[in-house]
Amino acid sequence: MQYRVLRTVVDGEQSPAGDIPANTYHLVHYPQDNLIAWTDARFEVCPLDIQEQLEIAHCPGIGPILRKLESTSDDISVEALADLCGAGAYDVYRYFHDHRDHDPRSPADRSKELGHLSKDLAVRVATELLNWRVTPQSREIGEAHYMISEGLDVALTVNAICAPRWIAVNSTISRDGIHNLAPYSCSQFIAYKEPVYTFGAQGYNEERGWQDTVQNILDTKNFVVNLATYNWREQMNKTAISAPPWFDEFEYAGLTKGNSSTGWPPFVVESPVHMYCEFLDVTELPAAAPDRKNIEVRGKIVRTDILRSVVRQDGSVDTLKLDPIERLGGPTGYVRVAKGDEFHMVRPRWPDDAEEQKP
Ligand SMILES: Cc1cc2nc3c(=O)[nH]c(=O)nc-3n(C[C@H](O)[C@H](O)[C@H](O)COP(=O)(O)O)c2cc1C
Repeated sequence: MQYRVLRTVVDGEQSPAGDIPANTYHLVHYPQDNLIAWTDARFEVCPLDIQEQLEIAHCPGIGPILRKLESTSDDISVEALADLCGAGAYDVYRYFHDHRDHDPRSPADRSKELGHLSKDLAVRVATELLNWRVTPQSREIGEAHYMISEGLDVALTVNAICAPRWIAVNSTISRDGIHNLAPYSCSQFIAYKEPVYTFGAQGYNEERGWQDTVQNILDTKNFVVNLATYNWREQMNKTAISAPPWFDEFEYAGLTKGNSSTGWPPFVVESPVHMYCEFLDVTELPAAAPDRKNIEVRGKIVRTDILRSVVRQDGSVDTLKLDPIERLGGPTGYVRVAKGDEFHMVRPRWPDDAEEQKP
């Protein structure tokens, strides 16, 4: 399907009238809203005055919000915008933050100053927020009814499906000797013998470059993985702050630096385990927009240090005693791995356990 546009304005730039091929943009038809804007892969949105000039529209649910914004004075409070979007104030800060350069303050501190958003910014933030609320497309397949998500929407569902995810808090050191910490839940060990650990880092942009963690690993060729556990969950969260390279997240989060061997970044004393990784390689991954980049970073795990108190007498590690916290879907969901939910299964062996299948 094609959408006819009379005039489009994206980021203040006018482009000529024309048709938008359906696969270029993230479009959903909302005839009842009889409007508005659409979003492209970078979630850019048309300004308010586009309303009259488009035959159709899109960003699911943004119609009523734009109408409301048009009828109010210039600025809107964070709380009011959150209400309109059916979201929490925190979500608004989060998306607002994505539109800002590095800012070392916490979302809460920033919000005190922020208070109100300009209409233009409110539209951008609302569009991003609403786009993360996927409009479910339903389909019957066989006997069952499924919600189908494609393209960018898949990020939302994958985040919830591939969960719970353990959280690695990666410790690195910059070329200038600054210590850095950041949590990663797109994170796993992918080979057993020799053990290889991998994590995915997003959010590269031309102004900021790579995340500090990635840049430090590229520069110094090693890092330490700490396990996020319940006792230091709040501090772990603080280490996620997107701060400039000179900012030391250990100090900001109030975490204790453990002395690693010479040449290695400090470990987090509050974490019961530390895994020492030597940099192996990186792979650039597909990204949602041309000026964004995602990257996979891999390291060989050369040593693990584990607190004696979580090691059983036979030398095996009691994972539940580590009390790890895990990411669920959505921006704020976590779960504590509860003792008692553990169960065991013995793997089938070929050929004895498959007697009935034999020809
Ligand atoms: C629980 C949690 C998990 C996260 N997982 C990831 C992830 O897998 N990939 C990613 O790019 N960012 C992830 N983040 C966000 C980064 O930690 C954040 O962008 C951080 O500021 C990067 O820090 P740096 O620039 O100091 O390296 C996560 C944040 C939290 C709170």
